[in-house]
Amino acid sequence: MQIRAALLPELAGDVSETVCIVIDVLRATTVISTLFERGCPAVYVAASHDTASQFARSKGYVLCGESGGWKAPGFDYGNSPVEFSTLDFTDKPVVISTTNGTKATQKVASAKAVLLGAALNRMSVARSAWSLARESQSDIVIVCSGTNGRFTLEDALVAGLYIEAISGFAGPWEMPEQDDAAIAARRLWQSDSNLLRSMIEGKHAIKLADNGFGEDIGYCTIIDTLQNVPILQNSISNTDWPWPVYLVDSAITY
Ligand code: MLT
Repeated sequence: MQIRAALLPELAGDVSETVCIVIDVLRATTVISTLFERGCPAVYVAASHDTASQFARSKGYVLCGESGGWKAPGFDYGNSPVEFSTLDFTDKPVVISTTNGTKATQKVASAKAVLLGAALNRMSVARSAWSLARESQSDIVIVCSGTNGRFTLEDALVAGLYIEAISGFAGPWEMPEQDDAAIAARRLWQSDSNLLRSMIEGKHAIKLADNGFGEDIGYCTIIDTLQNVPILQNSISNTDWPWPVYLVDSAITY
């Protein structure tokens, strides 16, 4: 088995025979893990705001997402995990569309399995990816969402956090090979085990803090407190929508 890191979704290559973990720690994948924690029965991931809006309104689902970090116009909620962590989503399916995270997810939808990972649910997602990859004899690709096609520090740091956990599951005789990007991400994370201190230097974190979302950054750096494993299921297409919508379920697969 090999562990690869795609430091941008465009670098993931052909993922059809792999298990992917998509990371958008600031903030889409942290939000999705939080929604499941708050009782949400299903999350639908859309790669465009128009599709998200048409789908959510036709079904009566809650519509969430951001544009430039702010609540998208006409949406019910933005993309603040701290806000979601205080709300109850029992019996309330959510449709979410964000600038990078939901697009990155759709980009690798052809993988054998696509899990959505944050720092909060790192151990559960990493363990599930490891089990799925072993069962299906697949490589694991950690896909960093980046920001508008550019590398982001926070996703690479969390990729390193995942690579360290996955390597820990392997016995010395089955240690997965890591590509150079995976080694770089692991070493980046190992250079300072204080995730908040490392992440806060990144442009995206600085922008969120400037926009008054500083608490979100602290929340997104909490490691291993949630057990949910968001996993991509089937796509739902409709000729009226520019893009398909994907159902994400929460499962424990190990
Ligand atoms: C994204 O998908 O680009 C984000 O999660 C942006 C954000 O909410 O800060």
